[in-house]
Amino acid sequence: MPHDHIISAKQLSRADIEEVLDRAAEIDDNPAAFTQRHPGALLGLLFFEPSTRTKMSFTAAIKRLGGDVVDMGPVEYSSVEKGESLADTVRVVEGYADALVMRHPSEGSAKMASEFVDVPLINAGDGAGQHPTQTLLDLYTIRENAGLDDLTIGIMGDLKYGRTVHSLAHALTNFDATQHFISPESLKLPRSVRYDLHEEGATIREHTELEPILSSLDVLYVTRIQKERFPDESEYRAVAGEYQIDAQTLEEVNDDVTVLHPLPRVDEIDHDVDATEHAQFFEQAHNGVPVRMALLDLMLEGESA
Ligand code: NCD
Repeated sequence: MPHDHIISAKQLSRADIEEVLDRAAEIDDNPAAFTQRHPGALLGLLFFEPSTRTKMSFTAAIKRLGGDVVDMGPVEYSSVEKGESLADTVRVVEGYADALVMRHPSEGSAKMASEFVDVPLINAGDGAGQHPTQTLLDLYTIRENAGLDDLTIGIMGDLKYGRTVHSLAHALTNFDATQHFISPESLKLPRSVRYDLHEEGATIREHTELEPILSSLDVLYVTRIQKERFPDESEYRAVAGEYQIDAQTLEEVNDDVTVLHPLPRVDEIDHDVDATEHAQFFEQAHNGVPVRMALLDLMLEGESA
């Protein structure tokens, strides 16, 4: 891994991605070989926003490598409540840990924080910006189920505020992928993301309906409408519940599509999909552990070299 900080999927080359995914596959094949790779390594957790999967799978990952976490805990019990700045907080916590994982509601916050620390900082979500480690586990799951080359993927839901979408779309430009984006008009990809994808020569199409393209997809990546990022609740209500899939639609139109979702879901994937072969989203969440183990292993290996 040539990067000390992991801020955006834009930094990740195809070789970087493959290095992480290959290491994750080795870990999946032989977890016991990795249990004492980094004894005593400490990962600093700074979560300024809710998290279940990202925080817990990073915790599981470092513990399985022989290390541990130092966790700031809920923001309301930290010195942030006393008015401490983000820059001061990260400067303090870098003295307690070998690497930091940070999630924050402001876009650009991970980049800013990384400028104040010497230990590697991993962006675990910066507002509507980026979520690069989610992308690594998404790519791992896509590679296992459909392969990453000659891929036709539909990415549906909140493309405006969904940071997992922004990261995944960038990362897929390293592969031979056709990307279909499906959303209401008001939640289309931000202009800046679309611009970057065009600059990378990506093949992208935008749609407001899923039905016409569903039969052509290898993978359908569904996302939650990011309610917490809407400036106005009425705007959220205008689009909530608009894009929903169920088992019947999938079976009738495309019986071999793999359905992924970064989770948590609200109502965009009916629970009747869970028992079908399409549903790989719980497997996807579980892949967070080997993939984050692989990333940490490579980063910490680089640190001690
Ligand atoms: C995502 C996030 O936080 O961006 N969750 C996750 O990390 N798996 C997706 C979401 O909250 O909708």
